[in-house]
Amino acid sequence: MEVSTALTWQRSMHFQPGVRMKISKSSISRALRRAIAERGMIREEDTAVIFYDLSWLQGRIGELVSLFPAETLHAIAVKANPLVKVLKEIQKSGLGLEAASLPELCLAQKTGVAPDRIVYDSPAKSRKELEYALQAGVHINADSLAELARIDELLKSMPLTGTIGVRINPQVGSGSISMLSVAGEYSKFGVPIKQQREALLSSFLRFDWLKGVHLHVGSQGCELELIMRGIETVYNFALEANRLLEREGKERRITIFDIGGGMPVAYRPDAKIPAMEEYAALLKSRLPGLFDGSFRVITEFGRWLHAHSGWTASRVEYVKRDDKVNTVMIHVGADLLLRRCYRPEEWHHEIAVADRSGRLKRGRERKPFTIAGPLCFAGDIIAREVTLPPVEEGDYILIQDTGAYTLSMWSLYNSRQIPRVLGYYDEGERFELLRERESLAQKVEFWG
Ligand SMILES: Cc1ncc(COP(=O)(O)O)c(C=O)c1O
Repeated sequence: MEVSTALTWQRSMHFQPGVRMKISKSSISRALRRAIAERGMIREEDTAVIFYDLSWLQGRIGELVSLFPAETLHAIAVKANPLVKVLKEIQKSGLGLEAASLPELCLAQKTGVAPDRIVYDSPAKSRKELEYALQAGVHINADSLAELARIDELLKSMPLTGTIGVRINPQVGSGSISMLSVAGEYSKFGVPIKQQREALLSSFLRFDWLKGVHLHVGSQGCELELIMRGIETVYNFALEANRLLEREGKERRITIFDIGGGMPVAYRPDAKIPAMEEYAALLKSRLPGLFDGSFRVITEFGRWLHAHSGWTASRVEYVKRDDKVNTVMIHVGADLLLRRCYRPEEWHHEIAVADRSGRLKRGRERKPFTIAGPLCFAGDIIAREVTLPPVEEGDYILIQDTGAYTLSMWSLYNSRQIPRVLGYYDEGERFELLRERESLAQKVEFWG
């Protein structure tokens, strides 16, 4: 554990809890103006560009580290944003990575992060994938009793270099987004605690390599209280299992406690979202054992770290003016904002408009505009009748909070090219190419 790294962060960030909420529209516009002014940064073919504010991300990492004990392993969910250069920023800050598939595990390894700082979760690990992970020495969370049996089988012919835990469904209920809630009575994830408590306890007695518990209540839409109850349920189970191990004269104990991710963020400016400070304080007061070194605590936040760090600028290709609706045609839609377009009642992104130099358009004269993507289906709409200053061809539509579960969910439908991705520091004092725009040839090649 790079305790020193974590402490350096705490000292250097001068973090004020709660201050780093969103990147303001003015800050976005300043960065965009610089990108437009810098030669070759936004080229003619860059009809849309995805930006990541890496200074903001560093501040967010500092906030996270400052709120938990220094030994905590913050394994950031790769699925939220798998860009290797961003993962490297995370790794350099002393954090770990959580992988939900073999390719995500390889992405984590590509950053050079130590194996014991990689957590491998996935509900469908094949034998081959398990072998790979066991050899790599990472922390594996088994998703089922069947997977535990499979690991036991594999360990008969190979050594264990990493650590292993089991995912438990605490069955505490669902949040407001059913698709992302995984701690209800039924979930495809984990071992349900109500039905399988005894089987779980016997697994801890039987498998001398099993040292960890894991849970994840849900992602976005879960109240703090629900998350806390989930953690509490598994915590009580861990204490019970440890008492049992002691009674049975076993030396080993559950020593790894992975509390998952799920901290929500405010996509709407008026959304009431708890601060991470509140999460950490609640956890500490309700489960002090997670703060006193009794367990190696792992977190798996994704959205909370990344969502606000990213925003997207798309050039306005056309404005279709009509008596009733003015439709702005832009270059990203459901390909980038899958959830927003397919489940518009659950997802939201703030929209602003900037002129061709990147200056925010303001003023009293405002009209409703519908912002439509380039894809060939009617639902490819990222905002309906949003009130904006006059929008013209050549302007930029700015979409906020596109840092998590957006590029990582890029849809191939209509085979549009993935835009250029730029990182920047200090509002655009310095830019870094995070990913080049996909070429036409690459896209065509994809389909064979
Ligand atoms: C097991 C697990 N851990 C962590 C995460 C990250 O969740 P979030 O991005 O909401 O923090 C997820 C999200 O789906 C998950 O399934």
